[in-house]
Amino acid sequence: MGEKIMFGDIYRNKKVLVTGNTGFKGSWLCTWLISLGADVYGFSNEIPTTPAMFSETGLANKMTHFYADVRDLNAVKKIISEVEPHFVFHLAAQPIVSLSYTEPVETISTNVMGTTNVLEALRTYSKPCTAVIITSDKCYDNVEWIYGYKETDAVGGKDIYSGSKGAAELIFKSYYHSFFKKEGGLVQVASARAGNVIGGGDWALDRIIPDCMRSWSEGRVVEIRSPKATRPWQHVLEPLSGYLLLGEKLYKDHTLNGESFNFGPKPEYNHTVQEILEDMSVRWHFEDSKQAYKITGDIKFYEAGLLKLNCDKALFHFQWKPTLDYHTLIEYTSDWYYEYYKNKGEMFAYTLSQIKGYEDLASLGNIAWTK
Ligand SMILES: NC(=O)c1ccc[n+]([C@@H]2O[C@H](COP(=O)([O-])OP(=O)(O)OC[C@H]3O[C@@H](n4cnc5c(N)ncnc54)[C@H](O)[C@@H]3O)[C@@H](O)[C@H]2O)c1
Repeated sequence: MGEKIMFGDIYRNKKVLVTGNTGFKGSWLCTWLISLGADVYGFSNEIPTTPAMFSETGLANKMTHFYADVRDLNAVKKIISEVEPHFVFHLAAQPIVSLSYTEPVETISTNVMGTTNVLEALRTYSKPCTAVIITSDKCYDNVEWIYGYKETDAVGGKDIYSGSKGAAELIFKSYYHSFFKKEGGLVQVASARAGNVIGGGDWALDRIIPDCMRSWSEGRVVEIRSPKATRPWQHVLEPLSGYLLLGEKLYKDHTLNGESFNFGPKPEYNHTVQEILEDMSVRWHFEDSKQAYKITGDIKFYEAGLLKLNCDKALFHFQWKPTLDYHTLIEYTSDWYYEYYKNKGEMFAYTLSQIKGYEDLASLGNIAWTK
């Protein structure tokens, strides 16, 4: 049997530029694009953590990487004009809610002006290009209702991070209406909104899974500040499959230009922090969960309550839906870190094997992008 075709093979031999390529999602996206046969480029201002998935997988040697600040318009323009990308995935951001309280200006300048600069560089770019702007489910004005948020709901945000993502969405729409909307234009743009993701290779601060993995790797008990908090958990590959599918569809169908899409988890993924840690501790072979986590119940900053995404639009337009069940999500996430910390495995090959496993499960589930 020949190799399976993914995303209509659209990324093979295409130049794809990923901003924020040294980050958690960026590293997974670049690894996946490499496996899809793309010629992958990326830029970031730094490697955001130590360790980082970008370093531990040796991605710097497997793609073309630049150091640049997305707040520097000339630098962004120069990279785009030198690379001449067919696709751009914009992920560079200050993504940590707690940091947005101590560094509000940096958060706003990176997330809002950074997005503006990418759009502005694309406005003055003179070749065909398909761009997917990644924001967040936190871009929605969270009115704390029980319904899923639709792409037509108002953007907003009570904390600085959410506000910056809402603002990035507004800028995206203004750029679309002012510049990219015209018929026969060279650049097609869309925005993608996904929620909290987990998966191997994330070492960001103040995220529960990285905090937990750091603690367990050092033999420490992890403290949980809100054990009953429910999160719509999903594996990082799930929204990435949405971003890649959106890129493919937008490339082929220009009527999607200017549209936004939600990529959220299955509703049954709403598990509490405590449940997730309990299940992950089993895969880390803890005999007693008391050795794995301790409940402290101390919430330090305002974080919006449950926010559910309505993903009917992605389902309707391109039959997108998530692939993994809850148990495989836990398995993929905890096993990646276990491979890294305990087995000292080769993490690029291991990441590729998880991507292949994910593609196989998606094929079995007849998920649209596997054709
Ligand atoms: N991880 C999640 O759960 C989640 C959820 C929803 C949305 N998102 C969004 O997805 C994107 C990627 O998130 P992530 O989790 O990979 O974050 P991350 O912190 O791991 O990566 C962020 C990337 O952006 C780069 N960056 C930051 N400031 C920059 C600057 N001034 N100039 C150039 N590059 C800069 C970093 O170097 C890094 O490569 C972000 O836009 C984030 O808001 C993430």
